[in-house]
Amino acid sequence: MDALSCLSLLNRSSYDDCKKAADWLRNRTKQRPRVAIICGSGLGGLADLIDDKTIFPYEDIPGFPTSTVAGHAGQLVFGTLQGQACVCMQGRFHFYEGYSMQDVTYPVRIFFLLGVEILIVTNAAGGLNGSYKVGDIMVIKDHINLPGFSGQNPLVGKNDERFGVRFPCTSDAYDRNLRSLAIQTAHAEKCGSIVQEGVYCMVVGPTFETIAECNLLKKLGADAVGMSTVPEVVVARHCGLRVLGLSLITNKAVTDYDSNEKTNHEEVLATTCLRAQDLQRLVRHIVMKI
Ligand SMILES: *[C@@H]1O[C@H](CO)[C@@H](O)[C@H](O)[C@H]1NC(C)=O
Ligand SMILES: *[C@@H]1O[C@H](CO)[C@@H](O)[C@H](O)[C@H]1NC(C)=O
Repeated sequence: MDALSCLSLLNRSSYDDCKKAADWLRNRTKQRPRVAIICGSGLGGLADLIDDKTIFPYEDIPGFPTSTVAGHAGQLVFGTLQGQACVCMQGRFHFYEGYSMQDVTYPVRIFFLLGVEILIVTNAAGGLNGSYKVGDIMVIKDHINLPGFSGQNPLVGKNDERFGVRFPCTSDAYDRNLRSLAIQTAHAEKCGSIVQEGVYCMVVGPTFETIAECNLLKKLGADAVGMSTVPEVVVARHCGLRVLGLSLITNKAVTDYDSNEKTNHEEVLATTCLRAQDLQRLVRHIVMKI
């Protein structure tokens, strides 16, 4: 067997696999969501705000990987948020956990086959931009796909035209109308002072960045850095979903050798816990206006 056939055997995000999972879900819920939400670390509380819930643990859904990281529940929640039909991914898959890029992005293709038109992704990120404060919410204007630079792009491999074109455009990855809706909504909800708009850079992790790496990413034009989101956005854009990305700034990246600060996961989760309410409120009001 040649290497490409081996790859496609391992690739669980083939059209048929995704279709099977989508049909399986469609047979089990009457909800036909227009909006999908991916909840980042510690941000799964959004799913609790959903009404008329139908819940599917990941292990029950055909072909779904299961989530392992602390702070992630691992279930798909269908229902309505502010009257809008939604599906919420409570717990996402990270490349650093050992999942392939196809595993990480498998749910996005299922959303597409379920008829979802808009993807909202949230994450916890480290602030690189000196004017960002811990607790700020960054509307993602653009991203730097650093893993993509070294060959880890979820679209590597045979292209299936039923999802999208071979060479998709990503200069419009983050929908301009959704971004301005997010910023307007933040002002209307009196949290305009904590809202930023900037560039998210993905690193694989699981190590947090060194000081030299942080300084490098700043020079590259990144405002925040994290270990997720970009693969899902790439696959969402490939199949034509409109995307809104929101990063909660949970810590400031260390860029000074004299600093005694150290980034740690507990700090990230603690800040997330404090500020998750603001982010959830913002998402709720954005969804209402979509
Ligand atoms: C969904 O339901 C249809 C009709 O009952 C059935 O033929 C099909 O096998 C089901 N598909 C899955 C994946 O459960
Ligand atoms: C940092 O954020 C501020 C406020 O959003 C922005 O004006 C600025 O261009 C960003 N980048 C740098 C390098 O300061």
